[in-house]
Amino acid sequence: MRYWLVMPAAGSGERFGAARPKQYAPLEGRTVIEWALAPFLADARCAGIVVAVAPEDTAWSEVAARLDRADGSGQSTAPRRVIRAVGGAQRSLSVRSALAALAASAPAAADWVLVHDAARPCLDARDLERLLAQVTTQELGGVLAIPAADTLKRAQPADGGSARAQIGQTVERAALWRALTPQMFRYGRLCAALDAAHAGGRFPTDESQALEWQGEHPLLVAGMPGNLKVTTPDDLLLAAAVLRARQGRNAQDGLMRIGSGIDVHAFGPGDFVMLAGVRIPHSHGVLAHSDGDVVLHALCDALLGAAGLGDIGQHFSDADPRWRGAASARFVTDVRAMLDERGLAVANADITVLAQAPKVGPHRDSMRRQIAQLLAIPAARVNIKATTTEGLGFLGRIEGIAAQAVVLLTEA
Ligand code: CTP
Ligand code: MG
Repeated sequence: MRYWLVMPAAGSGERFGAARPKQYAPLEGRTVIEWALAPFLADARCAGIVVAVAPEDTAWSEVAARLDRADGSGQSTAPRRVIRAVGGAQRSLSVRSALAALAASAPAAADWVLVHDAARPCLDARDLERLLAQVTTQELGGVLAIPAADTLKRAQPADGGSARAQIGQTVERAALWRALTPQMFRYGRLCAALDAAHAGGRFPTDESQALEWQGEHPLLVAGMPGNLKVTTPDDLLLAAAVLRARQGRNAQDGLMRIGSGIDVHAFGPGDFVMLAGVRIPHSHGVLAHSDGDVVLHALCDALLGAAGLGDIGQHFSDADPRWRGAASARFVTDVRAMLDERGLAVANADITVLAQAPKVGPHRDSMRRQIAQLLAIPAARVNIKATTTEGLGFLGRIEGIAAQAVVLLTEA
């Protein structure tokens, strides 16, 4: 899937009360808006970004220049184009203006658009994933939100900000949520809903409200409380604490685990061997309990080894009748499920086949694709090598075949 990002950043930050609007306030070595953009700049599914800034804005150009240099993600990818639009006097007008500027990139009416506040610097990638996953299961769209946790009071007079306010009444909390961003809708539908609201002289305070006014009921997707909106200077301290805590967690998450595996099978009667799930014609078959796929067995051992989970024999005993003649792809999918359970992801796999015959070269690409598919990673992260042993030993005498696998796992 792909989506577009619209970021309203044209507010003046009255409640924040600084000379510079809060979206440009310094935060942990960047500005607030750079943190707000970061998860999207790092996401390949984000096809383009429009930022709506105030007509009198003077700070955006500096940010844009930094983004052009670094792409915000710190990676050496080509810079994603971030387009600037001129915002309006209301948040919804700023969003509408950004959506109009997006038209230059020719989005389809059914394309998804995410709207994310420039003042929300702490969006966690896991929240973004949850929003994308849940919203794309239905047609209309949805928002990240948090069920109200505190007891809620309606103030009197209604101006809750007034120092003299008293409690009017307690509001039933059970069904109340706080709406956050990103909010996610289809491009055509969101433009139409905002246009209808504006035509009626109404300015929704978030995108979902515009659709609610059309009788719709967008999805509520539970988000994490760290995704706060910087409103007052105190919020900056909280945001810094959230970002720092996450950096600490990521440093742990980044732990890498390496594993290696080796498998050998003797040739026996038959006219093909299975290598990486690919059937390769050969003068012999292999003697094995399962399909005797040395590549997938070595791979399983490497994965289990990296995860600290023993070896393939412990999990898929060759005395177990269930595995008689089994396709070894099944072992890999089962091992992957064990890794998933433990939050381990495969970074890459490097495999060497040791055999005098059959020749692996012509099958290398299909083996690579097959393994990539089994591991659910891009083929570019799988490598297949082959070597003979120059006629030496049991491999050289074509009595059998061997494979070695090395994998790297990362803790998620
Ligand atoms: N926003 C916008 N255009 C406006 C008003 C707000 O693009 N006319 C943006 C803000 O820059 C912010 C987001 O909408 O990223 C959420 O608004 P809010 O937190 O209310 O920001 P401000 O309006 O700047 O703050 P305040 O209400 O305190 O003035
Ligand atoms: Mg405001």
